[in-house]
Amino acid sequence: YFFPFFFFFFFFLSHGFNDFMDGSCSRCPYAALSLSSRRYMGAVGSSRVMCDNVPGLVSRQRQLCRRHPEAMLSIGRGVAAWTAECQHQFRRHRWDCNALDRESAFVHAISSAGVVFAITRACSQGELKSCSCDPKKKGSAKDSKGHFDWGGCSDNIDYGIKFARAFVDAKERRGKDARALMNLHNNRAGRKVGAVKRFLKQECKCHGVSGSCTLRTCWLAMADFRKTGDYLWKKYNGAIQVVMNQDGTGFTVANKRFKKPTKNDLVYFESSPDYCIRDRDVGSLGTAGRVCNQTSRGMDSCEVMCCGRGYDTSRVSRMTKCECKFHWCCAVRCQDCLEVVDIHTCKAPKSAGWISRT
Ligand SMILES: *[C@@H]1O[C@H](CO)[C@@H](O)[C@H](O)[C@H]1NC(C)=O
Repeated sequence: YFFPFFFFFFFFLSHGFNDFMDGSCSRCPYAALSLSSRRYMGAVGSSRVMCDNVPGLVSRQRQLCRRHPEAMLSIGRGVAAWTAECQHQFRRHRWDCNALDRESAFVHAISSAGVVFAITRACSQGELKSCSCDPKKKGSAKDSKGHFDWGGCSDNIDYGIKFARAFVDAKERRGKDARALMNLHNNRAGRKVGAVKRFLKQECKCHGVSGSCTLRTCWLAMADFRKTGDYLWKKYNGAIQVVMNQDGTGFTVANKRFKKPTKNDLVYFESSPDYCIRDRDVGSLGTAGRVCNQTSRGMDSCEVMCCGRGYDTSRVSRMTKCECKFHWCCAVRCQDCLEVVDIHTCKAPKSAGWISRT
């Protein structure tokens, strides 16, 4: 099991955006990397130094990094957003986006979609030398409401998809084993029309006498990343279990009675562990110390989340961020508010076996 390289990579690049994470990532195993990144941030001007020091890149990715250093920074800004999206989608679950298994299908897909978003947005913002607004959206066109002119800046999502394919898939292209094929499949699913392009929406502005709309200018804009998160969440819940071929060159559906996975489906090999107990081998941090919901009856309830071990309650007054406003781009500025709350956190298991394992 490995964390996708890009997680290391983006945490490495994105320390300036830790505010985004709002402390919720203090448990991330790679959070420490954000500290070591400070050493290199000063050297960002030198893409060679930066790209050579990012851990976990394969050589094809290092080449892309050196050729497009500003694209790497755009992706680095995106990681906070899609890690937050991952944590949002899994907010009621034991798993917290830190470790991977069946969930790796989701992580591969949402990270891949996240790169598409980060690069596409950077193109529209004029941050990258290699791309700009969609050059094909020019001249006049027609829709159900009649004729209109393309204008403004249409998001160049085809470029974002192309870049994400070259960059994200490079890691898996080296290996030809079934796991690499599975990761490629899930990367691709995150970039499919269903996950990203479908949510491009046409926005228009009316011109003409007192807004009569005799003239319209339109452009295509990406929807909120939440839509992609929700879509991939559905796909995750319907993810299809697969088994390796006899010769290890691919995979087929595990249960022949179930439908074969399409390119839009997420796929995974073995069943996930239950994530109750910390276990490095399966990449689980366990749920000890996780916050649970005393009144819920769902996955986030204290019974389920704490796996029956019980929980501690403490009353804390805390400063929270409130009235947050998003500033383009990419900062969130908030006010500080004081609130008093009861917090329930899962107890750790008592067994000695657990202690010796950590
Ligand atoms: C806890 O669960 C209840 C019932 O599902 C819900 O109404 C409430 O908002 C949850 N509280 C938190 C802090 O998530």
